[in-house]
Amino acid sequence: MTESVRELISEEEIGKRIRELGEQISRDYAGSTIKLIIILKGGCFFGCELAKRLSIPVELDFMAVSSYGNSTESSGVLNVQKDLDDHVIGQDVLVVEDIIDTGRTMSYLLEELKRRGAKSVSLCALLDKPDRRVAEVPIDYCGYRIPDKFVVGYGLDYAQRYRNLPYIGIIEFLEDEE
Ligand code: IMP
Ligand code: MG
Repeated sequence: MTESVRELISEEEIGKRIRELGEQISRDYAGSTIKLIIILKGGCFFGCELAKRLSIPVELDFMAVSSYGNSTESSGVLNVQKDLDDHVIGQDVLVVEDIIDTGRTMSYLLEELKRRGAKSVSLCALLDKPDRRVAEVPIDYCGYRIPDKFVVGYGLDYAQRYRNLPYIGIIEFLEDEE
């Protein structure tokens, strides 16, 4: 099998969309300090670029959760591999994730952050794949809605590879010729 990646969203387009999201979030949170909770590993490219486009005071924390193994199908099992460094009590929290697929990971996480005493909990996702939703998740800030294809780049991986691509592409698998 040979893998190839076909560009879906260019680096320039993503940069422009992140600027727009940054302006919108800065307006919505004017007068407050925002705590960005960047979801590792996939959300870190998007989260760091977004943080640079915010004109309000920003705090950063990171969490690693997953419901995927080395495949393109959700196992439905949530693992917390790395928890936050600090509490979120009384804080305006914005969770930054690469993609909302089935929504299982996020529905669990958003509830957990409320339970821990955050003043507000919102979600910003670079990509939304609504066709595959199983758990209802309100996405407050969304970069792009995409069709049900497996995508890589800009933080998104296939078997831990391709995260470093500066654009988002659809991964395709071709049978090798004999
Ligand atoms: P959910 O719990 O099914 O919404 O899982 C979301 C997580 O699955 C994301 O944070 C990604 O790590 C991963 N994921 C879902 N769709 C894709 C994809 O198209 N490419 C790469 N990773 C994906
Ligand atoms: Mg992820």
